[in-house]
Formats: sequence, C-alpha cells, structure tokens
Amino acid sequence: MKLPDLPTARLLLRPYVIQNAPTVEAMLDAQRATSISTGVIRTDPAVAQEASVDAQGQPHNQLTGIIYAVIRYEDAELIGNVSLLDIHTADQRAEIGYWVGSAYWNNGYCTEALQALLNFAHATLGITRITARCLTSNLASIRVLEKCGLARESLLRAHNQSGGKYEDVLMFGLCWPERS
Ligand SMILES: CC(C)(COP(=O)(O)OP(=O)(O)OC[C@H]1O[C@@H](n2cnc3c(N)ncnc32)[C@H](O)[C@@H]1OP(=O)(O)O)[C@@H](O)C(=O)NCCC(=O)NCCS
Repeated sequence: MKLPDLPTARLLLRPYVIQNAPTVEAMLDAQRATSISTGVIRTDPAVAQEASVDAQGQPHNQLTGIIYAVIRYEDAELIGNVSLLDIHTADQRAEIGYWVGSAYWNNGYCTEALQALLNFAHATLGITRITARCLTSNLASIRVLEKCGLARESLLRAHNQSGGKYEDVLMFGLCWPERS
C-alpha cells in the first residue's frame, strides 16, 4: 500500500523518509539534554524509519506499523511524528504513538496531527479501536489523548522505567460506535 499524505489546516502528515533522520535526531537530542522527554515511549527514530520503509510496500492488511512525519505548512519544518503501532488487522485495532519537538509544544499541533491520523486509521484501514499508553506523570500527553476522544481504561503498575525508576503507565482507549 502506498501511504497517502494527510493534510490538516496547519500541517502535512507525510510518510517518514530516511532524509528526515538528522532533524529528528537533533530534536530528540535537544529534549534529552534538557531532561524534558521523560514521558517518551517508543520514539526512537531508527525504529520509526524501519517501520515506515517497511510499510510503504506492504498490502493494506499486512501493515503492522505506520509512522508519519508532521510538517508545518508555514515554514516546512518537521516538528514531530505520529504513528500507528501494533496494528492488528483481524481485531481492527492499533496503538498510537506521538512526539513533538519541544520548541513547538502547546500550539495544538499534536492534537491536530493525531486527529488526522485517527480519521485515516478509521476511514482507510477500517480500524475501530485505538489504544495509547502514557506515563502517569505526562500531563501534556494525557491532555492530548483526552482532546482526541480517548478515555482512561486502566493503570499498569510500575510498567516503564523512566529516569532510573519504575513509573505507572495509564492505558487509554477509544472505540468507534460500530464496535460496541
Ligand atoms: C505530549 C506532546 C506530544 C504534546 O504535544 P503538543 O503539540 O504540545 O500537544 P497539544 O498542543 O496538542 O496539546 C497539549 C495540551 O497539554 C496541555 N499541557 C501541557 N503541559 C501540561 C501540564 N504540565 N499539565 C497539564 N496540561 C498540560 C496543554 O495546555 C494542551 O492542552 P489545552 O489545549 O487544553 O491547553 C509533547 O509534549 C511531547 O512530544 N512530549 C514528549 C514526547 C511524549 O511525551 N510523547 C507521548 C508519549 S505517551
């Protein structure tokens, strides 16, 4: 399946290409340096590239992961990424991942990009359930999930290591009406 570009009002979601790597690496390094990326789960750019390259040639029903680069129209900057991970075609569900460079936070970009990704997942891939995980301390991430219509479903105790200690992780979910 050739993944389509997904346009929004302010952003273009574009399937990841290898040329994006330096920008992504630079943003990740900046966040690590200032210790503000403690909420990151699964945002390794190498993983992102592999998943995306794999995805480009695969039939629709064999996709297991899709990564989109998020590009801002006004200056063509790559500002982050959003992804569908662990796509289970038979169960019509997937998990979302997302990440935005700290210089661009709190402008609604992540929410706008995720909403486009969720629409694509539902309309094109037939996905009717989305899950997401985030650290209990990651308040911005929790807010993004709520704005995208996901609800808290459970707590995974001491599930992830962050800054040398184990942290609880919240599981969020969304079911489209035809599922229930
Ligand atoms: C989580 C993240 C993707 C959000 O990106 P973003 O583009 O800033 O998100 P949005 O602007 O769409 O929404 C952020 C919301 O969080 C709120 N927020 C930010 N910091 C907050 C805090 N400390 N406490 C409560 N709410 C907070 C903002 O006010 C905004 O909500 P609002 O629109 O109701 O005002 C970004 O912070 C990030 O990349 N963090 C590091 C990676 C990460 O944590 N990824 C998710 C892993 S689960």
